[in-house]
Amino acid sequence: MSNTHTNIVLIGFMGSGKTSIGRLVAQRLGFQFIDTDAVVVERVGLPIAEIFAHHGEAWFREQETSALRSLAILNRAVISTGGGIVLRAGNRALLRELGFVAWLTASEEVLFERVSRNKKRPLLHTDDPRTTVHELLATRRPLYEEAAQITVDSSLLTHEAAANLLIAEARRAFSWPAR
Ligand code: S3P
Repeated sequence: MSNTHTNIVLIGFMGSGKTSIGRLVAQRLGFQFIDTDAVVVERVGLPIAEIFAHHGEAWFREQETSALRSLAILNRAVISTGGGIVLRAGNRALLRELGFVAWLTASEEVLFERVSRNKKRPLLHTDDPRTTVHELLATRRPLYEEAAQITVDSSLLTHEAAANLLIAEARRAFSWPAR
């Protein structure tokens, strides 16, 4: 396979379960867990909502790409990414270099229901968040599909089952010996 690093990279829309499932995968494999949003927050020194409010989305995207590039030294990590990381073609190429890329997804209804419970996401602070989710998903679905090597629907599986599936698929992709 073309990946140059042995990481597991999780992409997907807000609310797709990247962080919770990613932490579980990392724990099971004894890998480090990294979240690109957390890298941005630490480097900039501001929460995501404030970065958007003070600097705007375009500036956030620059920080996000720069955070992603900084991870190219990693191996044996589970990397969870912000939902918009796939917007840039350069990021999509970087994701592949970082390792085995899995798209975590769920139906639009489930994603909307999950993101509605957490008000911290600035992109959804609109008059009509349901339409915003619909439009963002329509734009991004083909990009997730293009970037990912597998797709896992997190609403059809428990987190444990999703983690097991990801580990089995990564094992196959990297030709890791069975345990
Ligand atoms: C974003 C998703 C967020 C965060 C930022 C922008 C997006 O991450 O990066 O609010 O563009 O979808 P999560 O997907 O972890 O919520």
